[in-house]
Amino acid sequence: MEKKKLSRIDLKKMKDSGQKLVWITAYDYWTAHFAEQAGMDMILVGDSLGMCIYGYEGTVPVTMDQCIWHSEAVRRGAPSIFVIGDMPFLSYQVSVEEAVRNAGRFYKEANVDAIKLEGGQRVCAQIKAIADGGMLVMGHIGLTPQSSGQLGGFKAQGRTVETAQELIKDAKAIEVAGAFALLVEAVPPEVCKILRNQLAIPVYSIGAGPDADGQLMICSDVLGIFQAFTPKFVKKYENIAEKTIRAFKKYAEEARSGSFPADEHTYKMVKGELPKLKEVLSV
Ligand code: KIV
Repeated sequence: MEKKKLSRIDLKKMKDSGQKLVWITAYDYWTAHFAEQAGMDMILVGDSLGMCIYGYEGTVPVTMDQCIWHSEAVRRGAPSIFVIGDMPFLSYQVSVEEAVRNAGRFYKEANVDAIKLEGGQRVCAQIKAIADGGMLVMGHIGLTPQSSGQLGGFKAQGRTVETAQELIKDAKAIEVAGAFALLVEAVPPEVCKILRNQLAIPVYSIGAGPDADGQLMICSDVLGIFQAFTPKFVKKYENIAEKTIRAFKKYAEEARSGSFPADEHTYKMVKGELPKLKEVLSV
């Protein structure tokens, strides 16, 4: 039976009843299709696609068009999952007007259910304007990859009293601005637990421990595809890289030796046509 797509109200009910939500990133039709079959609650078309699909060193080069194309493919692969489009670098920082227009592109062109953007108090005007435009916005604080340069690299956040207090201020401001949920990345579990308890909106974790309203993981990490580096919070549930290389090597070996393609992989001529062709060609 096809699972019913969750709504903002369902997400809030899940938080209030203590039911954990599980979501994953996806960037293409097939991964989204498999995520739907596996019963995921939500999908993020993360700008992590810059690293996981395009091989960039970070997320900064990712464009709005790339995010839209991948979100469209994901929507086709998972028509009944709540899909979130990720606003890439410079799609919302320049002005509130640009932020609303770009959030709207995700809705109009890729049929997403919500958008996500990074940052705390400094992006609250954008969050408010997008929410006022009738769209669902998720906040994202802690390790925010688009500003990793400012953070001094891909580093855990909120590990001191001052920085934890700053995160709490950011989280509350995001809620007041009208976000429907908050994602917290690479933050100590104790800080995430405080955020979850102090906010009425759902608070989800990626690398912020178990005391959240749900968990997000990057698909390429779960599958063991991404090889450039492995953050501390990642658990690899498969080693698809190894399996892929093994399959490619076997194919190359068989094609070189001539054992592939075998008879069952070829098309037959219509009965009686081969002798006639040979006669015509005198071969
Ligand atoms: O782009 C992404 O996948 C994200 C996660 C790292 C949270 O924003």
